Amino acid sequence: MIKVAPSILSADFGNLQRDVEEICNAGCDLVHVDVMDGHFVPNLTIGPVVVSSVAKCATKPLDIHLMVENNTFFVELFAPLKPEYISFHIEEEKHPHRLIQKIRSYGIKPAIVLNPHTPPESIEYLLEDLDMVLLMSVNPGFGGQSFIESVLPKAKKLNEMRNKLNPNCLIEVDGGVSDKNIRSLKAVGVDVVVAGSYVFKHEDKKAAIESLQV
Ligand code: DX5
Ligand code: ZN
Repeated sequence: MIKVAPSILSADFGNLQRDVEEICNAGCDLVHVDVMDGHFVPNLTIGPVVVSSVAKCATKPLDIHLMVENNTFFVELFAPLKPEYISFHIEEEKHPHRLIQKIRSYGIKPAIVLNPHTPPESIEYLLEDLDMVLLMSVNPGFGGQSFIESVLPKAKKLNEMRNKLNPNCLIEVDGGVSDKNIRSLKAVGVDVVVAGSYVFKHEDKKAAIESLQV
């Protein structure tokens, strides 16, 4: 069954504890946290002060998605919060192998994110060291954008690669995910989906999350 990681970027930040507890009680699998620095992407979100409050009220593990320029600095900032995953963008990292080892040294599962234009072949030699690959299905920076269809053949290719090189490595897709595309994502081997606006705009969060756990 597909695992669902609601993105708190679409939560009401004035009622963050309420919203985090609501998605956890509604049966989500992970809590997706978008960290943006205003440099790698044209938006700015939250740092470790706010995320530590999220970690306290979340009863599901955190999935931290870094969209930043200085990955190592941010990994060190967030590692003490003990998320399940920290993912960083391959487009912004000169020494991905070193950073993977650093994340793992904290007991955290390392993941790499690919922007819509970045081919899966770019991480072929890193796949065996990863716990997850996150494919962006929108341009990173904002919630509520439309799903870029070319992620489907890309996930299919990545699925073939990981089955050969590291079957334990999960495939996650982030951006524009809804009940309209979840079956197509399942069909190409996706294991985890991030969903921000789709989950948070629903009155019934449990029904929204269950509609993606196919
Ligand atoms: C975009 C973020 C996503 C975003 C997804 O940069 O990485 O996690 O919150 O939001 P939706 O599901 O609304 O596209
Ligand atoms: Zn994200």
